[in-house]
Amino acid sequence: MLFSLAPMEGITGHAFRQVHAACFGALDRYYTPFLTPPQVGSAFGGRARKELDPAANRGLDVVPQLLTNDADRFVWAARLLADMGYAEVNLNLGCPSGTVVAKGRGSGFLRDPDALEAFLQDVCARSPLPVSVKTRIGIADDAEYGRILGIYCRLPLKELIVHPRVQKDRYQGKPRWEAYGETLARAPFPVAYNGDICCRADLDALCAAYPQTRHVMLGRGILTNPALARELRGGGALAASELARFHDELYGAYKAEIGGNAVFRMKEWWSYAKFAFADSTAVHRAVRKARTTAEYEAAAARVLSAQPLASSPRFEG
Ligand SMILES: Cc1cc2nc3c(=O)[nH]c(=O)nc-3n(C[C@H](O)[C@H](O)[C@H](O)COP(=O)(O)O)c2cc1C
Repeated sequence: MLFSLAPMEGITGHAFRQVHAACFGALDRYYTPFLTPPQVGSAFGGRARKELDPAANRGLDVVPQLLTNDADRFVWAARLLADMGYAEVNLNLGCPSGTVVAKGRGSGFLRDPDALEAFLQDVCARSPLPVSVKTRIGIADDAEYGRILGIYCRLPLKELIVHPRVQKDRYQGKPRWEAYGETLARAPFPVAYNGDICCRADLDALCAAYPQTRHVMLGRGILTNPALARELRGGGALAASELARFHDELYGAYKAEIGGNAVFRMKEWWSYAKFAFADSTAVHRAVRKARTTAEYEAAAARVLSAQPLASSPRFEG
């Protein structure tokens, strides 16, 4: 079984990926949070340039993800990525955010299947890198997926990663596994599953229903339990000392990158990591109150030394 880290904007950037790999061993693959391709003729700038810097991704199998509905910009960005040494480019057809959807990007692109097919035929023909897609199954209704999957099946995709929710689900409700099963049955290319795999029982249930499962992308489950992939492979449970080390290294990496703003990044991580503890409410209160760097460091140290871990740490959405 192949395990990869889901792209999560604002969280699973290069610092998170490197610290996670150093503390828990590298996953089989990592996807960057979505990046906007530059204008044709321009280089990646700002955050994207840092995110893609080969030195920041050394030793890891990283697949850059693009968010766009502009074929020329996608192909141009794929050329830049090929020159940097990347071997695959991923298209985001899942982002449910209102502003992204309104511009016909992310899951918003699924609203116009004809335009989506023209875009994908064009970029698959012109991209210098193999193209994979991470998709939701529609906007409002799973009945939309048959037509969308039909489009994918006519394309030479490197892989299709299915997060079987519709845009209107956001991150709520049970993933619609039947759509994943339909993908496995029809797709002529490799398929990956993503959504709510947060413990061994979740993976066992998925594999019992769909034994052909070969690649599972892990997201919020790893934010709560950074040892999740090890546990899914039959290894040991998360230890408090491991979580403390992971926290300290992640905070250190963020401080080196963005100084005092590291506290805001860490609070975002804590909104998932708190579920690793037996009393997630107490952890939430302790960390949320911290305003200054010194307050944050004292609160985090108190939580990590005094709050016991849950018996089976699991993200609770
Ligand atoms: C804070 C946050 C940021 C996300 N950013 C991205 C992103 O940049 N690109 C993407 O394809 N999906 C993004 N996602 C969706 C995740 O990759 C994943 O599909 C989703 O969380 C379901 O998987 P999980 O249940 O394993 O977390 C994001 C999700 C969250 C919670």
